[in-house]
Amino acid sequence: MKLPWSLVTVVPVLTTKLLAASAEDRTQHVNLFIGTEGPDPGTSYNSGNVFPGASLPFGAVKIGIDTAEWNVSFTANGGYTPDSNVTAITMLHESGTGGAPTYGLIPQMPLTSLEGVNVLDNLTYMQPRTSPDVAEVGYYKTQLQNGVTAEMSAAMHAGIIKYTYPKDSGGRYILVDVSHYLPSTGDKGQFYSNGRIERSNDGGDYRVYFCARFDSAPSQSQLFSGRATDPYWPSTKNATATFTNDTSLEGGIVGYQYADRIGALFEFPSNVTTVHSKVGVSWVSTDKACQFLDEVPHWNVDHVRDAAKGKWNSDVFSKINVTSTNHTQLEMFYTAMYHAHLLPSNRTGDNPYWESDEPYYDDFYTIWDTFRCLHSLYVLIQPQTQIEIVRALIDIWRFEGFMPDGRSHNFNGRVQGGSNADNVLADSYVKGLGGGINWTDGYAAMKSNADDLPYNNFDPEDLTGSTKEGRGALRDWRQYGYVTPNFGRSLSKTVEYSLNDFSVYQVAKGEAPEDASKYLNGSA
Ligand SMILES: *[C@@H]1O[C@H](CO)[C@@H](O)[C@H](O)[C@H]1NC(C)=O
Ligand SMILES: *[C@@H]1O[C@H](CO)[C@@H](O)[C@H](O)[C@H]1NC(C)=O
Ligand SMILES: *[C@@H]1O[C@H](CO)[C@@H](O)[C@H](O)[C@H]1NC(C)=O
Ligand SMILES: *[C@@H]1O[C@H](CO)[C@@H](O)[C@H](O)[C@H]1NC(C)=O
Ligand SMILES: *[C@@H]1O[C@H](CO)[C@@H](O)[C@H](O)[C@H]1NC(C)=O
Ligand SMILES: *[C@@H]1O[C@H](CO)[C@@H](O)[C@H](O)[C@H]1NC(C)=O
Ligand SMILES: *[C@@H]1O[C@H](CO)[C@@H](O)[C@H](O)[C@H]1NC(C)=O
Ligand SMILES: *[C@@H]1O[C@H](CO)[C@@H](O)[C@H](O)[C@H]1NC(C)=O
Ligand SMILES: *[C@@H]1O[C@H](CO)[C@@H](O)[C@H](O)[C@H]1NC(C)=O
Ligand SMILES: *[C@@H]1O[C@H](CO)[C@@H](O)[C@H](O)[C@H]1NC(C)=O
Repeated sequence: MKLPWSLVTVVPVLTTKLLAASAEDRTQHVNLFIGTEGPDPGTSYNSGNVFPGASLPFGAVKIGIDTAEWNVSFTANGGYTPDSNVTAITMLHESGTGGAPTYGLIPQMPLTSLEGVNVLDNLTYMQPRTSPDVAEVGYYKTQLQNGVTAEMSAAMHAGIIKYTYPKDSGGRYILVDVSHYLPSTGDKGQFYSNGRIERSNDGGDYRVYFCARFDSAPSQSQLFSGRATDPYWPSTKNATATFTNDTSLEGGIVGYQYADRIGALFEFPSNVTTVHSKVGVSWVSTDKACQFLDEVPHWNVDHVRDAAKGKWNSDVFSKINVTSTNHTQLEMFYTAMYHAHLLPSNRTGDNPYWESDEPYYDDFYTIWDTFRCLHSLYVLIQPQTQIEIVRALIDIWRFEGFMPDGRSHNFNGRVQGGSNADNVLADSYVKGLGGGINWTDGYAAMKSNADDLPYNNFDPEDLTGSTKEGRGALRDWRQYGYVTPNFGRSLSKTVEYSLNDFSVYQVAKGEAPEDASKYLNGSA
């Protein structure tokens, strides 16, 4: 892990306001807190998981607060809960997902005092909020008990945060605990291991690089390290950090689960009351993360917010005109439109595993949910995005052998029943989507699902066949035309394989008519 921070002079850039005076700002109808609460108002008890922070449509960076919630009856897969204490502002989130939390990475936490703070223990510095958070499209604001106000916004691969410290503040600190991640419990959790996060069952190690800058020079900056602690709270290890004035620090062998935790602590001089920070995030390298900082060539959160609103208006909300003037209906409609454009994340050009001229999308979370309505909606109102998504799915097949049913952090997994990317491709095919989609390869990718048994990843939750990709019960399916209870989830597999084969048939009719009857019969 390398922590490059540079101190750059403020370059005020006068961006043109992207919202033309005449264009209607439909972002005003979006209520970002819809979906963040459960049945008990003001808490995420029994439901929630929606991410209310700032993002562009299909944004690679989704910036927002993470809160400390360790009662698993409260759902915090988007990082956020309405009522818990804030432990950090982080750059990567999912939204609306079930299962286990993913991401909550690249953190910063503003503090005004180090009294009682153990930088290795977020329970010692987490902050209650003193007033309700404010969320607008492309903007999020939270006010912490220590008096700091944090405002944030997002470009495509970079976020910006403005910290305003109280005038009489005892100190002005920003803590970067590289080992921060969303709290997990159980075997699908993720945990830190020296710059590497591991998810045990949902698989796949991954690394994320970042590059951060502040707009004023810290009076002191130190790196720290400390021993690995328990992945769950509270830690039994009572670890404390060792500080160093060295300019770089590594936790130890990359990937070693018990390697040291590392981070950095910045202190700002007393004449500074606001600090801006920009953070670029890349899955390829720190250099690339630093290049992404160019997406925000100034230090103005409001300009980034306005650009985001302009993009949501022009790329998303302008696609459908409605005549209703009913506030409730407008809020429901535009909030749903907004949520329909957060995932998958467009990571074109930022794929660590292969170089290709094809687009690349990640965070398919998950296609067994989204094939029915979401992708069909994209075909109608976002055909270019849908083309890129289909090309990305096919490219994943080219390099990994199977299209995903679910995928995040560049890792196929998991499968709930069938291989529903087939339905996504068939829908685009029958509706004539072209735009550089190689349908020869598209059909071949679908045939892999239909004909190739994926290797068994022996998921403890279902040992009978792959839960990673493809159709793990293919042998039964081809032999009997249904899936026997010898396989897990045999009923949903039977139902889904049937629709999947019908999808393969739809494409076979055009691409390989000699195969068509096989898959039509499969779907019967
Ligand atoms: C979690 O919170 C719920 C609702 O407040 C409560 O009923 C339950 O006992 C809590 N569970 C634990 C383990 O604290
Ligand atoms: C939040 O932090 C405050 C102040 O440190 C503490 O009193 C409170 O118990 C914390 N709340 C939770 C839910 O942890
Ligand atoms: C807080 O720290 C604990 C222990 O390292 C970790 O499990 C948890 O994910 C962190 N949670 C948040 C929200 O910061
Ligand atoms: C950790 O600290 C707590 C409180 O100071 C103490 O009760 C506990 O025994 C310590 N645990 C270890 C493993 O040192
Ligand atoms: C780092 O440098 C500062 C300022 O010179 C000094 O006060 C501090 O003790 C040093 N820290 C370490 C761990 O050496
Ligand atoms: C704060 O003081 C330092 C040192 O005196 C100076 O270099 C810096 O420009 C000042 N910053 C602000 C924001 O006034
Ligand atoms: C929505 O209405 C505006 C103004 O009348 C018009 O310019 C635009 O083309 C319409 N958009 C759609 C998708 O119909
Ligand atoms: C607005 O729409 C909501 C939801 O459909 C409905 O309950 C409400 O009665 C409507 N309000 C008016 C004034 O028509
Ligand atoms: C996806 O990202 C790439 C690279 O940043 C960009 O060229 C492309 O236009 C984006 N796709 C959409 C639909 O915005
Ligand atoms: C589609 O891909 C195949 C193999 O990858 C290639 O042979 C073929 O030329 C491509 N078709 C088009 C239209 O690009």
